[in-house]
Amino acid sequence: MLALLTTTATTADLAGQPLVVEAVPELVDLKHAVLGAVEELLDADAVLASNTSSIPISTLAGRLRRPERFLGLHFFIPVPRMDLVEVIPSLATAPEVTAAARDLAGNRLGKIAVVVGDSPGFLVNRLLVPYVMAGVRMYEAGYASAEDIDTAMKLGAGHPMGPLELCDLIGLDIIRDAGDAIWAETRDPAAVVPGVLRRMCDLGRLGRKTGRGFHDYTDR
Ligand SMILES: NC(=O)c1ccc[n+]([C@@H]2O[C@H](COP(=O)([O-])OP(=O)(O)OC[C@H]3O[C@@H](n4cnc5c(N)ncnc54)[C@H](O)[C@@H]3O)[C@@H](O)[C@H]2O)c1
Repeated sequence: MLALLTTTATTADLAGQPLVVEAVPELVDLKHAVLGAVEELLDADAVLASNTSSIPISTLAGRLRRPERFLGLHFFIPVPRMDLVEVIPSLATAPEVTAAARDLAGNRLGKIAVVVGDSPGFLVNRLLVPYVMAGVRMYEAGYASAEDIDTAMKLGAGHPMGPLELCDLIGLDIIRDAGDAIWAETRDPAAVVPGVLRRMCDLGRLGRKTGRGFHDYTDR
């Protein structure tokens, strides 16, 4: 999959590309700005996608000139090893764009695509975020140490990673934003972001990407 990628630091190089997947930080105004600028460079039949974890696809589509050519393509990290891609059409996405994205994910990228609705967290995070938040709440309450929470779920439930390690891998800010987005629309108490997770984000303890989250990665 990595062999199919070409890198550039120049937005203008995106001109004429048949598909562009935006993956800038999870800030709605930044995404609006980047998607709007990229759309201007693309041909009318190109497909524009967002890798957002939590912003509704319809929210992003609403500011575009061609919302019918836009959809969500949600990858999972580590992307080269995770087989799934969620394909998320908005109400405005043309059916042929959804079909083309599904085909691209399955046949060109070698992924397994699932088509899911445009609701916060889509499918995987809608199920995963409440579970992860429950692990953070146990840690916050002093119920068990971060190490023991992770060890318990790895050895007791057969998960490759415990919930706090998973938070550290994904990024605490990404998990916080996903929890806030699910709660804002569903008011599901299981998605409420525990205070300790917000405080860690405030301190820049975002997990592996900053060297520290629930665990310390500075020596790894
Ligand atoms: N971390 C995950 O597990 C994960 C999984 C699936 C989807 N996502 C989504 O992917 C997106 C990015 O998340 P991330 O964890 O990779 O964030 P990140 O902060 O690690 O990476 C963001 C990248 O965007 C670049 N960037 C910032 N501003 C830019 C701009 N104006 N123009 C072009 N590039 C810019 C940064 O240099 C950086 O390389 C978010 O929407 C997130 O929700 C993240």
